[in-house]
Amino acid sequence: MNPDDEFSEFGEQLRRPLDVKLSEFQRNGRLKHLILASQLDSELLERLRRMADMIRHLSRTRQGNLRLKGLLAHRRAMLYFTQPSTRTFLSFMAACQILGVTCNEVRDAATSSESKRESRMDSIRMFSSYFDVIIMRTVIPCFSECCAFLMNRLESASMRSVPIINAGSGADEHPTQALLDMYTILRTFSEDYTQESKPSRFVAQQSGKPVEAGPGHKTYLFCGDLGRGRTVRSLASVLSQYEKVRMFFVSPDNDVLRMERKLLERLRNSGVECEEFHSLDATIDGRPILEEADCLYMTRIQREHNSSVDEQNQSEMNLADFRITPERTSRMRSWAPIMHPFPRDSVTGEIPVSIDADPRAMYFRQARNGMWARAALLVHMFDASEELMEIYSNRQFHQAT
Ligand code: CP
Repeated sequence: MNPDDEFSEFGEQLRRPLDVKLSEFQRNGRLKHLILASQLDSELLERLRRMADMIRHLSRTRQGNLRLKGLLAHRRAMLYFTQPSTRTFLSFMAACQILGVTCNEVRDAATSSESKRESRMDSIRMFSSYFDVIIMRTVIPCFSECCAFLMNRLESASMRSVPIINAGSGADEHPTQALLDMYTILRTFSEDYTQESKPSRFVAQQSGKPVEAGPGHKTYLFCGDLGRGRTVRSLASVLSQYEKVRMFFVSPDNDVLRMERKLLERLRNSGVECEEFHSLDATIDGRPILEEADCLYMTRIQREHNSSVDEQNQSEMNLADFRITPERTSRMRSWAPIMHPFPRDSVTGEIPVSIDADPRAMYFRQARNGMWARAALLVHMFDASEELMEIYSNRQFHQAT
């Protein structure tokens, strides 16, 4: 079946204004589905940060782990990942395991009855018959959104309906990546580490840092394939809600790779000061942009989406302008984290392994943060936040065993 025909019944719903759609993905002040990064407002992010911190703290002890495992032991999750993934798939699976959620997976539609011409929507409805949440990654941008509409429609007809979590949809959105990126940024720029028995290596190095707490009042430098990078799109949207945010977008001067015009306009309309550059060595008002950044977010060129024309164009580009080097990091602020959603490209080397020992290199911890942040998301969506807080406040489970 042609995917356009398959989703045509949702066309009108898809075209409605964002605020109307967002209200349909909420219930009683909680997320009912997580489809779009715009659902992650600052208050929710702070709540999820606190819960993720609690989960990581509890998981340090056997007793804490056992209590966490009982939290959602009555729930089952379907991981429907028909587009390749390492981190998102495994961190969701690990998050489920931490909370006692039983998981199952479909990672290739060819192994399901979609190979017998079952529609994707029928597959989703079948998953909802057996599982309590569907976590899905797909190459089709609107698919997870349509699945949320389907679930809402079923609910209105008093039929079984389950939450949908978008774990990456085409080049469009990756809201749970934005969640873990924000968790990393909030931790990095937070004064509140009282829950940590010892501060992180990075935080320890920043004592007396001359930087404001919180994600606002900062310059974020995004570099790489910004046109097709759904992680950048989602994170930039979420960051735009904070005060006095400046964003530098560094990409090759190419229609496919530069930041989408519509998104730039949206960011500017929400008060973000946006500037575009075509090299990490560019300057602004005579100052190197690298020296101005409070956070560097690198991405790889997503060659898997290239047409033969893109391949040809990119073979003629000097991608060295979009790689970090020890010389470039030496010019960055001492507190500026170096982030990357990963995977990094081991051939292009936008972040060479020689950078990994830099205390500002955050990408491996960022990926681990994904496990805690996604666990917190599941606790929130299954309305188990109060139970988590109760477990956390019970001191006997904090003692090392
Ligand atoms: N960052 C990210 O989404 O990684 P995976 O593609 O490995 O899930």
